[in-house]
Amino acid sequence: MTISYEYVEEIDSTNNELKRRAAEGKCQQYDVLSAGTQTGGRGRSGHTWSSPVGDSISTSMILFPRQVSPKHIPRITPIAAVAVAETIEELCGLSAGIKWPNDVLINKKKVCGILNELIPDDEGRPDHVVVGIGVNVHIKEFDPAISGMATSLDLEIEAMDRPANTHCGAITVGIWEHFAKHYEAFLHTEDLSEVISYYNDRLVNKGQQVRVLDPISPFEGEALFMDETGALHIMTSDGERVVDSGEVSVRGLYGYI
Ligand code: BTN
Repeated sequence: MTISYEYVEEIDSTNNELKRRAAEGKCQQYDVLSAGTQTGGRGRSGHTWSSPVGDSISTSMILFPRQVSPKHIPRITPIAAVAVAETIEELCGLSAGIKWPNDVLINKKKVCGILNELIPDDEGRPDHVVVGIGVNVHIKEFDPAISGMATSLDLEIEAMDRPANTHCGAITVGIWEHFAKHYEAFLHTEDLSEVISYYNDRLVNKGQQVRVLDPISPFEGEALFMDETGALHIMTSDGERVVDSGEVSVRGLYGYI
């Protein structure tokens, strides 16, 4: 497996650029594009994603999982969360948490968001996936609207009275090396068995009361664990229910988690 890295100072969105290159046949599996800033960074659910110049990681990788069953492709998302958590723990000495399905948290605040996009071919079969990762690294102040829910690696390291010598390039390489290793294991099993225990050990929703935002019939319960398909198990007053990240999102009943 060879990961090929490219860095640009500025781009609209690293996800967008890899999708454009793929449409022109100019990409190979494991190509990574990172940017110093994004002018049109995108988050999940149509949100924007802010990438202050030089203070954050904006990075995307392209995959061609054409042999993977289409319904298993969303399972790639938790793998990316695990890769980010592992890298933060190893390189920054911080304890990472994961909010189902794929936000990475430190001390219950979001430090990383992940946007995976699946692009079909002309027949509607999965062609390529762009895995996009944004990490707050040197940011010291957040918009008041999100400051209670967001943090950066440097803020968390300094809160431990340690000097922050975080390096965006080293963190980026760490993330993609971990990711590619887990992705290769996933290609054999098409499930999350290789990362599941690491993931559930860091699942911050575990034991929390959550509201499942099911578009047809929302419900509440206690989050239990994620299974090897990526689904979250929830204990409700009517018994255990299982929810899929492609269909619903969950909110903490008493706060962000
Ligand atoms: C989220 O909403 O939590 C997901 C945020 C994903 C941001 C990353 S930054 C690199 C890549 N390019 C984008 O435009 N978005 C993703």
